[in-house]
Amino acid sequence: MSKNPALLITGGAGFIGSNFITYYLKKYPGRQLVNIDKLTYAGSRENLMEVENMDTYHFVHGDVSDEALVRNVFNEFDIEGVVHFAAESHVDKSIADSKPFILTNVLGTGVLLEAARKDWEKKGLLSKRRFHHISTDEVYGSLGGKGKFTEHTPYNPSNPYSASKAGANMLVKSYYTTYGMNVVLSSSSNNYGPRQHDEKLLPTIIRKALSLEPIPIYGDGMNVRDWLYVGDHCEAIDMVFHKGKAGESYNVGVGMKKRTLNSPNLFVNNLIK
Ligand SMILES: NC(=O)c1ccc[n+]([C@@H]2O[C@H](COP(=O)([O-])OP(=O)(O)OC[C@H]3O[C@@H](n4cnc5c(N)ncnc54)[C@H](O)[C@@H]3O)[C@@H](O)[C@H]2O)c1
Repeated sequence: MSKNPALLITGGAGFIGSNFITYYLKKYPGRQLVNIDKLTYAGSRENLMEVENMDTYHFVHGDVSDEALVRNVFNEFDIEGVVHFAAESHVDKSIADSKPFILTNVLGTGVLLEAARKDWEKKGLLSKRRFHHISTDEVYGSLGGKGKFTEHTPYNPSNPYSASKAGANMLVKSYYTTYGMNVVLSSSSNNYGPRQHDEKLLPTIIRKALSLEPIPIYGDGMNVRDWLYVGDHCEAIDMVFHKGKAGESYNVGVGMKKRTLNSPNLFVNNLIK
C-alpha cells in the first residue's frame, strides 16, 4: 500500500464530498487521496465513477467512528491532512431518530481528531498538518427577516442534526486550544448541484414541478435560504484548507437577497417527507 502523503476525505461518496474529490483530483494531478465512507443510504460509489480507476484514489469502506479502522488508515497511508465531510445530514431524519447523528457527527469527529492528533504528534507535525471540519450555518439557528450570520454569532442549533454539528465544531476547536492542533472549520449555507440526494429540497421541488404535482414546502413558505452551488463550495473548501488560519472558522455563502414566491398555487402547508 502507498506510503506517499495522502489527503484523507471522509464521507466522499456523498453529495459534497464526491464533488470535492473529483474537483481535487483534477486540480492536483498526482496527489494521493483516501476516502473513508460507510456508504449509508446517502452515499454511493456511483458518485465517484469519474475517479474510481485513478491510481491516486483509494477507497476504504467503513465507519469514521470505528477507532480500529481509522487507526489502520493512518498506519497504511501517510495522512497529510483531513477534510472531514462524513455526517448524517438530513434534518428530518435527526428529528425521527437522533442517535446515528450523535454517533457519526460527534463521536466520529472525536475518533478522527484523536487518530490524527496521535499520528501527527508522533511525527512532530501536529501544528503543520491540517484537520478541516466541514460544517453548516445551521449551527447558528434561524435569522429573523433581516441580518446575517457571522463567524462570531453564538451557536443556537434548533434540531438534533444542527446540535450534533455544533457539538462536533466545539470538539474540533478544543483540539486547537488544548493541543495546538492545526484545525480549521468552514460552515456553509445550503448547497445545490449534481449528485444531490433526491430527498433534499431543490431536487424534490424540481421533480414535483416536472410531474406537475404540488410543491411541498416548510411552514408558510416565507422562509429564506441562501443557496450555494456545490462547485463554488468546493473552491471555498480548497481555499480554506490551504490558506485558512489555524483555529479559525469561515462561513461560506452567497449572500442571496430575499425573494418570495407569489403564486398561492405553489404553497402546500406541510413538511417535506
Ligand atoms: N448539503 C448541504 O447543503 C450542506 C450544507 C452545509 C454543510 N453540509 C455538511 O457537509 C457535509 C457533507 O454533506 P452532504 O450533503 O454531502 O452529505 P450526504 O448526506 O450527501 O453525504 C454524507 C456521506 O457521509 C457518509 N457517512 C455517513 N455516516 C458515515 C460514517 N459514520 N462513517 C463514514 N461515512 C459516513 C455517507 O455514506 C455519505 O456518503 C456534512 O458534514 C454536512 O453537515 C452540507
